[in-house]
Amino acid sequence: MSTPLHTPAADRYEHLPYRRAGRSGLDLPAFSFGLWQKFGPDHSYEKRREIVLHAFDLGITHFDNADRYGPPPRGAQKFFGRVLARDLAPHRDELILSTKAGNPIGASPYQKGASRKSLLASLDHSLRDLGTDYVDVFYSHSPDLSTPLEETVGALVSAVQQGKALYAGISNYLPDRAGEVATLLREAGVPLLLHQPRYSIFDRRPERNGLLELAAEEGFGVIVYSPLAQGLLTDKYLADIPEGARAQASAFLSPDVIDATYRERAAALNKLAGERGQSLAQLALQWVLRRPEVTSALIGASSTGQLDHNLRALDFAPLTGEELALIDEHGVHGTGLKL
Ligand SMILES: NC(=O)c1ccc[n+]([C@@H]2O[C@H](COP(=O)([O-])OP(=O)(O)OC[C@H]3O[C@@H](n4cnc5c(N)ncnc54)[C@H](OP(=O)(O)O)[C@@H]3O)[C@@H](O)[C@H]2O)c1
Repeated sequence: MSTPLHTPAADRYEHLPYRRAGRSGLDLPAFSFGLWQKFGPDHSYEKRREIVLHAFDLGITHFDNADRYGPPPRGAQKFFGRVLARDLAPHRDELILSTKAGNPIGASPYQKGASRKSLLASLDHSLRDLGTDYVDVFYSHSPDLSTPLEETVGALVSAVQQGKALYAGISNYLPDRAGEVATLLREAGVPLLLHQPRYSIFDRRPERNGLLELAAEEGFGVIVYSPLAQGLLTDKYLADIPEGARAQASAFLSPDVIDATYRERAAALNKLAGERGQSLAQLALQWVLRRPEVTSALIGASSTGQLDHNLRALDFAPLTGEELALIDEHGVHGTGLKL
């Protein structure tokens, strides 16, 4: 191993709370970092590296990836593998690395879906991309109704039993199917560690469809993605769409959703945040973490400044009942999102 380039901050564990994932033994940082967008080779390696290392220096131990992230697919994992090899290799045991498989990444019938073949072939490829012998969490990225659930769960169990993953997770599963997965995994001796749904002030499904209650009953943790609704729950789109913002450059956030209705609701939430002395982003992050079932808020960032700002979200007084009611009034489910 060559000399690592980066010396991590000595005080890195003094910034964030760590929260237990369900009834497992694993703690995750209140904020985890995802490499979904702007972490492929189209973006500067140095800038991407700076963000990841800054996150680690702030106590973010958990980095979330997927075979699909880039673009192109596998781009973000190959990038992370390089940072791991050059900078973080001595700290592998301090990192919780996750990957996912099952969403389409190519034309082959084995590059999509949640069959045993697709999931385990992808995992092997991801381990090569990341340059690690194991990931900490391996997810079925989305439900695949054309594959028997037993086959999908069997692949997750094999991944753990083969030592290629320490824990199993699922993402985007509705509660009924998530409950079935939890039962099957428990019977196999590999309890479900995490569910990864989308949850934010503008996407209330996990609290409406019973997923959060299911998590508490079954004992799995919930790590929620896009808690800032990809940036809609920040002040950046209140006036215009700034140069380089995700809504200008991403296939996943269309500028069409930034309309008058969105702006009116976001402005009202921004005002409430201002009255509390915080920003809309900080309010939105504090809001998802108010639920004890939520282990971690899985955020993205395109600069170290966004990370510094967002991680201060828990420095503010807890939200009162009155404030939560105001958030319900203006944080209308579905705002700005294609549900
Ligand atoms: N399981 C799944 O199916 C699934 C799906 C989606 C995401 N995920 C995971 O969740 C992670 C996070 O998703 P996400 O990136 O959508 O989360 P997010 O935290 O809702 O959005 C992050 C984006 O918001 C903008 N932003 C952040 N802080 C800001 C601030 N203080 N002021 C202004 N703008 C700010 C940045 O975009 P700009 O580029 O505009 O600066 C940033 O990249 C992903 O990386 C991935 O790991 C999982």
